[in-house]
Amino acid sequence: MAAFLILISDGASAASVTAAEALQLRDEVKEMFYHAYNGYMDHAFPLDELRPMSCVGEDSLGGYALTLVDSLDMLAVLGDREKFFDAVNWIGKHLRFDKNKTVSVFETTIRVLGGLLSAHMLVSDQATGMVMYDYNDELLNLAEDLGRRLLPAFDTPTGIPYGSVNLLYGVSEDESQVTSTAGGGTLTMEFGVLSRLTGDPVFEEVSRNAVRGLWAQRSHIGLVGAHINVLSGEWTHKDSGIGTSIDSFYEYLLKAYLLFGEDEYLHMFKESYKAVMRYLFKDPWYMEVNMNSAVVVWPLFNSLQAFWPGLQVLAGDVEPATQTHTAFFSVWKKFGFTPEGFNLASMSIQPGQRSYPLRPELIESTYWLYKATRDPIYLDAGRDILASIQYGCRCPCGYCHIADVETHQQDDHMESFFLSETVKYLYLLFDLALGGDNIVENGPYPYLFSTEGHLFPLTPQISLPKECCTYSGSFCPDSSKSNWMLHNATNHVDAGSPLKVFLLPYS
Ligand SMILES: *[C@@H]1O[C@H](CO)[C@@H](O)[C@H](O)[C@H]1NC(C)=O
Repeated sequence: MAAFLILISDGASAASVTAAEALQLRDEVKEMFYHAYNGYMDHAFPLDELRPMSCVGEDSLGGYALTLVDSLDMLAVLGDREKFFDAVNWIGKHLRFDKNKTVSVFETTIRVLGGLLSAHMLVSDQATGMVMYDYNDELLNLAEDLGRRLLPAFDTPTGIPYGSVNLLYGVSEDESQVTSTAGGGTLTMEFGVLSRLTGDPVFEEVSRNAVRGLWAQRSHIGLVGAHINVLSGEWTHKDSGIGTSIDSFYEYLLKAYLLFGEDEYLHMFKESYKAVMRYLFKDPWYMEVNMNSAVVVWPLFNSLQAFWPGLQVLAGDVEPATQTHTAFFSVWKKFGFTPEGFNLASMSIQPGQRSYPLRPELIESTYWLYKATRDPIYLDAGRDILASIQYGCRCPCGYCHIADVETHQQDDHMESFFLSETVKYLYLLFDLALGGDNIVENGPYPYLFSTEGHLFPLTPQISLPKECCTYSGSFCPDSSKSNWMLHNATNHVDAGSPLKVFLLPYS
């Protein structure tokens, strides 16, 4: 099977994707989405996730119809009003969070809170074409209820939240004091938007304090570790990298700035980015190093690192992004998938890290690089990735994880992020090649993606700093303070094109 797929890849690279083929590929991605979505709805809903090989459901996270909530804005991207409205209606009527369930603060925020908020902003806004007339803020009310149930996790001396919280009873006495940097530092977009939509500042404040708590513990060379004690602020795992356990901490520093226009986040992003490029970047790869000494501990590519080139595009640093994408994609081509870990010293799979759980990060970066450069090699890469998933992962009721990227043995699991991210970025890639007739490229606002691929619009209500906006719709008088204006003025990677691309010229 591996050899077969590599053959496909090599054969495909001979001829670049044409417009006719982009259309066919986009339709194939759409069919992929519905195979997985309908499989979930028919066999697993309202449980959290589908087991796509045995065609049954399981409550893998909080028992809150996870895959449905995570899929909402993809239905909107596809313009599927019927299924979108059905889903919104069901959620408004039936979804409840008063459950005796201990859930991950991070996963619940990015998947469920983010899914509810993005869908709320789509369904309640005339300008999106997805408005539902009998909608009464049901999703926003659910998001607020969920947000309040997560708040007890933030009651720590450092401001960094515990990793898990019980939705009914708060933080349990035997909850671990250790959490990951990504877990504490990837909440600002969702919590900030929740504050701006409800008018209650508490959510934005706790998520900002969590980032400040992490930032305060950075090493003298500006690096953060992977795991930290939320009570003492001591690092319990001092490896610094851009992948596992840290990745979206960096992502949300930049995106929180882009969304809310607060200079503090931009400053933290720039300082962190400088440290990463100085100590972790070994062109074109990234190492895991000790956060204090910068000594390399792991010469390892892990598949979560693959989001980084996409983030670099957002930061306006496209050149190193192209180099790194080429290197990461070479690992994909070698196996037909990226393994969770690939050792760069031995150039072989890291023992125990042989799986590919349908992760989106490489295709996400592929989309961003195509958007920034319009180089057709990124469409070719997308075609290869699509072919691998189609031939390797498709199973009776959805798409299966790959347990081992060498044998391509399938695993009976389908993470909800396959629908909210992997399929979404593939769809957007090929649709962009056809002109980008979708809400992300052509909608009423520029959209940012959360780390779960959810759509967050830069509406004046959300993206204007609070101090200069009374929510009356009036713009901030000082245009340098208005993020909304900043974007409309400076994001012109493809000047002359109506498409909006976020680029923050990196300096
Ligand atoms: C909550 O759930 C836990 C674990 O399932 C259980 O041990 C506990 O008794 C439940 N608490 C209540 C009050 O139902």
